Amino acid sequence: MCGIIGYVGDQSALDIALNGLRRLEYRGYDSSGVAIVGAGALRTARRAGKLANLEKLLAEGPDMDPMPGTTGMGHTRWATHGGPTDMNAHPHTDCTGAIAVIHNGIIENFAQLRAELEARGHELASETDTEVVAHLLEDELGSEPSAGADLAGANLAGAAAAGAVTGGAGAVVPPVAGAAAAGASDGGPGTHPLTSALRRVCLRLEGAFTLVVLHRDFPEVVVGARRNSPLVVGLGEGESFLASDVSAFIAHTREALEIGQDQVVEARRDGVTVTDFAGRIVEGRRYHVDWDASAAEKGGYPYFMLKEINEQPSALADTLRGRLSADGAIVLDEERLSAQDFRDVDKVFIVACGTAYHAGLIAKYAVEHWTRLPCEVEMASEFRYRDPVLDRSTLVIAISQSGETLDTLMAVKHAREQKARVLAICNTNGSTIPRESDAVLYTRCGPEVGVASTKTFLGQVAACLLVGLFLAQVRGVLYGDEVAAYVERLQRMPDLVRRTLDRLEPIRELARELADAKAVLFLGRHVGYPVALEGALKLKELAYMHAEGFPAGELKHGPIALIEPGLPVLVVVPSPRGRANLHGKIVSNIQEVRARGARTIVIAEDGDTAVEPYADHLIRVPETTSLFAPLVTTLPLQVFACELALARGLDVDQPRNLAKSVTVE
Ligand code: F6R
Repeated sequence: MCGIIGYVGDQSALDIALNGLRRLEYRGYDSSGVAIVGAGALRTARRAGKLANLEKLLAEGPDMDPMPGTTGMGHTRWATHGGPTDMNAHPHTDCTGAIAVIHNGIIENFAQLRAELEARGHELASETDTEVVAHLLEDELGSEPSAGADLAGANLAGAAAAGAVTGGAGAVVPPVAGAAAAGASDGGPGTHPLTSALRRVCLRLEGAFTLVVLHRDFPEVVVGARRNSPLVVGLGEGESFLASDVSAFIAHTREALEIGQDQVVEARRDGVTVTDFAGRIVEGRRYHVDWDASAAEKGGYPYFMLKEINEQPSALADTLRGRLSADGAIVLDEERLSAQDFRDVDKVFIVACGTAYHAGLIAKYAVEHWTRLPCEVEMASEFRYRDPVLDRSTLVIAISQSGETLDTLMAVKHAREQKARVLAICNTNGSTIPRESDAVLYTRCGPEVGVASTKTFLGQVAACLLVGLFLAQVRGVLYGDEVAAYVERLQRMPDLVRRTLDRLEPIRELARELADAKAVLFLGRHVGYPVALEGALKLKELAYMHAEGFPAGELKHGPIALIEPGLPVLVVVPSPRGRANLHGKIVSNIQEVRARGARTIVIAEDGDTAVEPYADHLIRVPETTSLFAPLVTTLPLQVFACELALARGLDVDQPRNLAKSVTVE
């Protein structure tokens, strides 16, 4: 939620910021803006709407390079405080126009801080929580307002309302007092005045924030800070980057540094210094990003989502690769728990949100079946508020593609406070949730740019199955050869996924035909139920259509009243081989809705002839083990939602009101 890029180096900061924002736009697209320090001025430009609006503003600017400078930053916003207007777009500046701030998160005590600042004579121009940070920094640094500030609109009031490029020569403000005037550090790396000031300001903030700040008089640094919101550093040759995620700088460097909780990073051309909020230097963890810029590009597809749907066979294969050690044991990526800790587990909770929650619901069937441990699945946003019963024998599995979802992160923190063990399933190296966990399994699906999760859902399901097998193995419930046999069958799934994707043209055609439908229902049983929920979620978020998923058996307890002639009802049918008792029941459920006029769209495996008389449309998937079936039955539902949304003329990569990586609660 909100994308952030900061840069200091020798290249055009405007180009770096705009390129970074193009890669980060999936994190929010309500407005965007940039701030550049160069030629003795701080210039900002910002505009409501998608990045294209900002680019247009800059292209129509006064000259070919409206914002010279090699230190700068950019922001793409998902609005929280204040509507998606030009005035609320980031960056925000102080009264003098010397300081610019961008922010991701929510500053919970902003109202109180704003009142204090206004009482001291500060004029705040926006409705955002962010702007208080610029003014608090102004007080910390003791800047003097300049005579020219209001002439060139350096404090952005007025001019910014029209989305103007502001700053320029007219905005020259006297340097700040004292040591800061020379832009010098006041005692070595990590002690630059802007860094020290940001540390002091952070101590006053409550809530979640990633902040990146610039100062007109300090072109040598860009400074960032984080608490419960993402921030990674890119380490280049003679240049440094700060960003919400590595995709923003991957075209320039694949060397990255994690920034921990409550830390401030001072980025310079010659490197970075990380300190905690008290000013103590801390070591960050360096890592090499194992994918390159092409992985985060469309690669010839009109939408990332179409590319990511098609990448599922390789994403799944990468998640599963190398998971079985030479002695036949399942391998996690990071394990800070002993085998005994896992043996002591007497209860499993799975916490996650949205699509990841659906992966968790599927996991429950496998975990309980294989380990005989009770397993509860909970929406992360509800978990800590109902005071779940947790202790050191509880294993909490947190599933998150981004590793930054604040609801899930807070559930993890709560679990650890209660002494529970936490195992993270995550797609993003260097993100917060894995760092806060005791063990990690990465899904290794590569970057997912489309806001709706597709390939990472498959990765999460596969990772959950591996965790189930891992627990069964350490607890001795399954023998090594049984675990190995399951893993080998899992490793054949990428091929089945490829074969399923190759035969989905009929569901595409059907989706186009149903583009004007008012609503769609999704039914399933056993692991088909979470698949039905996922199909409904995809349709809601992409096509803005009313869609509901139900356990097929629950329909007669109320929702069957929704059925009316012509209503499309999509049914995920379990295998007649593995779960014969369920299969018969769902065939009856299909007949019940059809008898009431529903148009039935049946997803069934090859050779299941029993469904044929009751299917208005039959979509075939290859035969597979019941617990692995979601890895193929989800695919037609993803394609259905995507194609239907495209037929409605919608942007499937950036659905309205949404953003990837939800870093607010
Ligand atoms: C839906 C979707 C969301 C995410 C949810 C959790 O397509 O992508 O529902 O699954 O916001 O995100 P992560 O997995 O990053 O925690």
